[in-house]
Amino acid sequence: MNGDGFAVRAEGLRKRYGDKDALDGFDLRVEQGTVHGLLGPNGAGKTTAVRILSTLVRLDSGHAEVAGADVVREPALVRARIGLTGQYAAVDEILTGRQNLEMFGRLFHLGARRAALRARELLEQFHLEDAAEKGAGQYSGGMRRRLDLAASMILAPGVLFLDEPTTGLDPRSRLEVWDTVRDLVARGTTVLLTTQYLEEADRLASRVTVIDRGRAIADDTPDGLKNTVGGSHLDVVVRETADLPAAVRAVRRVCAGEPLVVDVERRVQAAVTDRVRALTDMARTLQDEGVAVEDIGLRRPSLDDVFLRLTGQTSGTAAAPGTTAVPDEKEVAA
Ligand SMILES: Nc1ncnc2c1ncn2[C@@H]1O[C@H](COP(=O)(O)OP(=O)(O)O)[C@@H](O)[C@H]1O
Ligand SMILES: [Mg+2]
Repeated sequence: MNGDGFAVRAEGLRKRYGDKDALDGFDLRVEQGTVHGLLGPNGAGKTTAVRILSTLVRLDSGHAEVAGADVVREPALVRARIGLTGQYAAVDEILTGRQNLEMFGRLFHLGARRAALRARELLEQFHLEDAAEKGAGQYSGGMRRRLDLAASMILAPGVLFLDEPTTGLDPRSRLEVWDTVRDLVARGTTVLLTTQYLEEADRLASRVTVIDRGRAIADDTPDGLKNTVGGSHLDVVVRETADLPAAVRAVRRVCAGEPLVVDVERRVQAAVTDRVRALTDMARTLQDEGVAVEDIGLRRPSLDDVFLRLTGQTSGTAAAPGTTAVPDEKEVAA
C-alpha cells in the first residue's frame, strides 16, 4: 500500500475545536494486515483521529496517508480504499438485513444485480443468512453490529476503521464482534479499532497505540506495554481505608518501586524484584503493623496498570459494562 508495509501513516496530526485541541501532534503507524488498537479514555481524540484518517474531517496540520493515498490531496482515493463503522449503528431498522445491504450496495453505485449478489455474499460471511429477511429492528446488538460491519465491507476495502465497535454491547455480542474482526483480518483486511476497553485491545490487537489528550503516549505490543510497567508487582488491598497510610509505609519499606495508591479500591501496589521475599516480608510487616489485609498477591501487570501508569488515571471504563474483566493473573496469592 504505502510500499513500506504500513496501511496508515500519520504524523503530527493537529485538530482544534474552538480553544480545545482534539488532536495535538498525533502520530500513528498501522502495519498492513493487522488489527491495531487505538486505546484511550473518553475525549482522548480517538474519533477525531478516525474521522481525519477517513477524510470526514479536515486536519489543521500534519500529514496522513491511508492505503497509499494522502488524506488531504487524494481524499477520493482514500475513500475508495477504506471502510468505516462509526460509533453508532447506521443500519435502517425498518429494512431487512438483506435490504439494508442492497441499499448500501446501491449507494456505492453497484448495479441492482451486483448489489444483490454482494448482499448475499456478505450475509453469508457475517453469519446473518438466517436473519436476512427479518427487519433489522428485531436484531440483537451483536447482529446489528455485524450488519453494520457487513455494510462497511461492501466494496471489500483493504483498510477498515472501527470506532468503538463493541461499546454498549452485551458480553456475548462483544465476543461475536471480536470473532468477526479476527475473521476479517484473516482475510487480509487491515483494521484500526478504537476502544476504551483494555481487555478488547489485549484480546484483538497485535499492536496498541495509547492516546491521551490528543497525543500518542505509547505504542507497542500489548506485552511490550505491560513490560514497560515492569515485571511483577506486589498488590495489597487493605480492609479499612484508614489503614492505607500504614500499608503505603510498609510497601515503601519492602518494595523497590514507588507505590501507586488507588484510594477507592483501598489498594497499594509497587514493582518488586525479589518476588517471593517481597511477598513474605510484606505479609509479616503488615501483620506487625496490625493492618487488616483483604488481599495480597503478586501480579503480572495488566493493560489496566499500563493505563494507570501512563495517564495517571484509572479508567472507570476499563471493563465493558456487564462483562467480567479478565481476572488478573495472580501468580502467588496469600
Ligand atoms: N465537532 C466537535 N466540536 C467541538 N469539539 C469536539 C468536536 N469533536 C470532538 N470534540 C472534542 O475533541 C475532544 C476529542 O474528542 P473525540 O475525538 O470525540 O474523543 P474520543 O473519541 O476519544 O472520545 C473532546 O474534548 C471533544 O469534546
Ligand atoms: Mg469517540
